[in-house]
Amino acid sequence: MHDFRIEAADKAVMYRDLASALRGLVEGEPDPIANMANAAALIWETLPGLNWAGFYRNVAGETGHELVLGPFQGRPACIRIKFGEGVCGVAAATRSVQRVDDVHAFPGHIACDSASNSELVVPIVGSDGVLIAVLDLDSPDHARFDAEDEAGCVALGDILARVL
Ligand code: SME
Repeated sequence: MHDFRIEAADKAVMYRDLASALRGLVEGEPDPIANMANAAALIWETLPGLNWAGFYRNVAGETGHELVLGPFQGRPACIRIKFGEGVCGVAAATRSVQRVDDVHAFPGHIACDSASNSELVVPIVGSDGVLIAVLDLDSPDHARFDAEDEAGCVALGDILARVL
């Protein structure tokens, strides 16, 4: 088992260490499920104040693309999310980061866990411009995620885009 416990008082240092631990975990491993699973576990173990951390994958179905639940840590969650629906669906449809201080004020928010109050969703886009997945972090705290969390998680998404 890898021991990647990261303890840093400074958030910037913590995200730098987290990025380097993630690089170490996924380097040379081509299996996307394994990489998402380890990324979810590492983020869950490192970032305080989360009640869910994981991935929804962009999957092509008979009726078009939708988000389908991927590896995660936390309570069992909604399995399928349509593009444009909820925080994850909007991130997928617009390919833009969604940082939501109060999910209950977000139109169409999908309440998988009523304990969630704030959320950060980062789209992961491959070098070909195709959306691969979204990284979804939920917190029971209001306004848990700030601009530094957003930048840190976008950097994690960039690392993952090369190995998913
Ligand atoms: N709250 C999300 C749904 C996914 S769960 O939080 C795991 C949303 O509205 O996209």
